[in-house]
Amino acid sequence: INTIGVLTSGGDAPGMNAVIRAVVRTALARGKKVMGIRKGYSGLLSGDIFEMDSRSVSDAIQRGGTILQTARCKEFMTEEGQKRGAEMCQVFGIDGLVVIGGDGSFKGAERLAHQGINTIGIPGTIDLDIACTDYTIGFDTAVNTAMEAIDKIRDTSTSHERCSIVEVMGRHAGYIALWCGIVNGAEEVFLPEVENITQDDLIRRILENKKKGKKHNLIIMAEGVGGTNELAEKIQRITGIETRPTILGHLQRGGSPSALDRYHASMMGAAAVDLLCEGKSNRVVAFKNGEYMDFDINEALAMEKSIPPRAREVERLLESR
Ligand code: F6P
Repeated sequence: INTIGVLTSGGDAPGMNAVIRAVVRTALARGKKVMGIRKGYSGLLSGDIFEMDSRSVSDAIQRGGTILQTARCKEFMTEEGQKRGAEMCQVFGIDGLVVIGGDGSFKGAERLAHQGINTIGIPGTIDLDIACTDYTIGFDTAVNTAMEAIDKIRDTSTSHERCSIVEVMGRHAGYIALWCGIVNGAEEVFLPEVENITQDDLIRRILENKKKGKKHNLIIMAEGVGGTNELAEKIQRITGIETRPTILGHLQRGGSPSALDRYHASMMGAAAVDLLCEGKSNRVVAFKNGEYMDFDINEALAMEKSIPPRAREVERLLESR
């Protein structure tokens, strides 16, 4: 491998810049040339590619977002697009590529590997929904951001003796919701992966909590379940308790990455470059059972992940009744 390309793809996540920095600096230390590709696969197709040096990633480790910018690219999902992507790599001399993103981005990386470009994926998403790894870059920062926001909502909810329903991100996965349920001490958490209590049961619980003198009810809703506004309207209509919905939205994707995100980002970025230098391709870097390792992309994509039953159990045990 002589020249390593790096791109961020799909939704951005805090810590992506720390990965880019680690890729660039490790590659330079190994005597490789580094090319930054802007706006994910769409920048690859349009040739939005530039040479990076050590200074290109100065002052980046603490920044949210991605200095390379990102995109979701429809054209790259076609065989024609993938072939053009591989040709564009050749034009710029890129023979190794690091792709930072989620499962969708890894599918693209797998297709490029198929076209002869050595590719390595790094899990970067706030959703924690990549099966081969226990950690995805951005999750810790996103959960901390959501936790702080929910603490604030709880203050005002208690003052007004209201019920608050807070919707958190995660697409089809409930990890942010589960963690917020535990770390914010929610009365109820709705997750897409498991059976939840019915809305009628929830309403009965809210009324019981009121009788017991509870000053607020905090309900966390995963976006994969949704219906936050409708549920708030229903609770208020039936119970007479003022109920406010809050959809936290994209604020969960921004902000300076936490120490944990910067650390994993640095370790995974360096690991990806070392894998390329060893001649490996079509691999995803993972953190599993306390160790950094790598998996074949196809095997990684075929793996399944589920909400840890013990965490759901503890979340339920700690709900106040
Ligand atoms: O995958 C990260 C994520 O923030 C999900 O939690 C969410 O469902 C989605 O991206 C939102 O995508 P967009 O930024 O395109 O609205």
